[in-house]
Amino acid sequence: MEERPTSVWASGRFWQRSAGWVTGFAAILLIWLTFDTGAQISMGSDEDLKNGITKRVPAPTVINYNIKYEMSEKRGHEVPVIGEKEPFFGKEWSEEEAAGLLRLGKLTSQAKNCMNCHTLLGNGAYYAPDLTKAWLDPAWENYLGMTGKSTREEAIAEFLQFPSKYPTHERMMPNLGITADEAIGLVAFLKHMSSIDTNGFPRNFGKIEGAIHGR
Ligand code: HEC
Repeated sequence: MEERPTSVWASGRFWQRSAGWVTGFAAILLIWLTFDTGAQISMGSDEDLKNGITKRVPAPTVINYNIKYEMSEKRGHEVPVIGEKEPFFGKEWSEEEAAGLLRLGKLTSQAKNCMNCHTLLGNGAYYAPDLTKAWLDPAWENYLGMTGKSTREEAIAEFLQFPSKYPTHERMMPNLGITADEAIGLVAFLKHMSSIDTNGFPRNFGKIEGAIHGR
C-alpha cells in the first residue's frame, strides 16, 4: 500500500523539537537577562563618581554631590544628574562614613515603616507623597524659612524629627520618635535614593501641582 505523506504539523517529532528549542532559547535569554540586570543594579564606586562615570545606582558618597533632575531628550524623561561637590550637613563624608550613614538611614526607614504610608522605589503605599525623589522636591525651599535652617538637609532632618510642627499637607505625618542621628541617616538615604536612575519614575515628578506636595 502506498504511504501517504503526513503534514509536518501532525508530526509529534516536530513539536518535540520545537519545544526543545524554545525552552533552550528562553533559558539562555533568562540567564543573560539576569546577568544584565545584575550589572545595571549593582552599586557604583566612589571612583566612578570621581571620574564622572554614571551608574544607575551611584556609590553612597553621592551624598557629597549636588543632584539635579533634568529632562533627557534622548530618553524622553527626566534623569538624575550628579553635579559639583557640595557639603552634606556641613562636611564631606568618607566612603566608610557615607556607607554607615546610608545603612543607618535604611534600617531606620525599615524600623519606622515609612513604606506603610509612602512609596520608595515603587514599593509601598500612596497615603503620603512618593519618597523616591523626595530629596529633589522644590517644596523644601519653603521649609528653609519655616524651620529656620539654612540648608535643605537640615530642614528635612528637622521636619522628620518634628513633622507635626510643620504641617503643609492636608494629611499630617505623625511624630515617629526619630532621633537627630537617625534623621541625618534618613536624609542621606533619601538623597542617595533620588540619585538612582529609575527611568523617570515616578512620572511627572514635580510637574503636576499638588501631586508631590498636595494641598
Ligand atoms: C503614618 C503615615 C506615615 C509614616 C509611617 C511616615 N510618613 Fe512621611 N509623611 C506622611 C504624610 C501624610 C506626609 C505629608 C505631610 C506633609 O507634607 O506635611 C509625609 C511627608 C513626608 C515627607 C515630605 C515629602 C515631600 O516631598 O514633601 C518626607 C520626606 C517624609 N514624609 C519622610 C518619611 C520617612 C523617612 C518616614 C519613615 C521614617 C516616614 N515619612 C513615615 C505620612 C507618613
